[in-house]
Amino acid sequence: MLDWFEHEGHVCIVFELLGLSIFEFLRQNEFLPFSVEQIRRMAFQIFKAVCFLHRNKLTHTDLKPENILFVRSDYDLEYNEDLVREKRLRSLDLKVVDFGNTTFDHEPHESLVSTRYYRAPEVILGLGWNQSCDVWSLGCVIMEFYLGRALFPTHDSKEHLAMMEKVLGPIPPHLLKQTRKKHYVHSECLNWDDEYIRKHCRPLKLYMQMQNEEERQLFDLLSCMLEYDVSRRITLEEALWHPFFSPLRT
Ligand SMILES: *[C@@H]1O[C@H](CO)[C@@H](O)[C@H](O)[C@H]1NC(C)=O
Ligand SMILES: *[C@@H]1O[C@H](CO)[C@@H](O)[C@H](O)[C@H]1NC(C)=O
Repeated sequence: MLDWFEHEGHVCIVFELLGLSIFEFLRQNEFLPFSVEQIRRMAFQIFKAVCFLHRNKLTHTDLKPENILFVRSDYDLEYNEDLVREKRLRSLDLKVVDFGNTTFDHEPHESLVSTRYYRAPEVILGLGWNQSCDVWSLGCVIMEFYLGRALFPTHDSKEHLAMMEKVLGPIPPHLLKQTRKKHYVHSECLNWDDEYIRKHCRPLKLYMQMQNEEERQLFDLLSCMLEYDVSRRITLEEALWHPFFSPLRT
């Protein structure tokens, strides 16, 4: 924070001027996905930033491409391997922003957090949350860099859970048993059969475009982040040591 002032009854906060958000850059670049090499460099910075919050007993709760900004978003126009004219950023330096709903461990936890697409299953099911809900959100965010579009494009909780099952397999019964949101769940297994879901979602590994080692590592990392059971979900500390990031650690 550089400064703050009041204007017509609103508190205004002055920050350094940054570039476009990742979402806005994707939009202006016709939702062309990032390359695996770009994803590696972007994810490493984001994970380090959010890991710093987690070490300090904070949960961001609203991680999404709109809340991650390029420091500078100047680019060159280049033809990619598919001969499509693409905006190539000169620098991938990023900053995480919007701490408006960032919560300390000792503070009361709002029951509904995160923006829909990036909301973790434990939040939807009302089972309580901690730092691991940021890990889920970042899993969705990284997948969005890879696809150029959201992994779970939905506005409805029941449909959202159904999409998760299509991509990640069945939600463990012990989680469904704990929830008081029984209307999302039918006889301990989700009730869904939807053309829209079949069209937009498929099992995670089927999104892989190439069967090379670096994509296998990326998808292994994603499957550890998009783990339903919070006690088994990878932490960001662990994720930074995942083999996907080895090229950046030397
Ligand atoms: C924080 O969360 C509340 C409740 O979900 C929401 O209304 C508000 O817009 C959020 N604030 C920010 C800064 O995202
Ligand atoms: C979050 O809560 C789960 C379940 O209680 C626990 O296993 C996990 O270690 C917690 N994560 C963090 C980062 O505190």
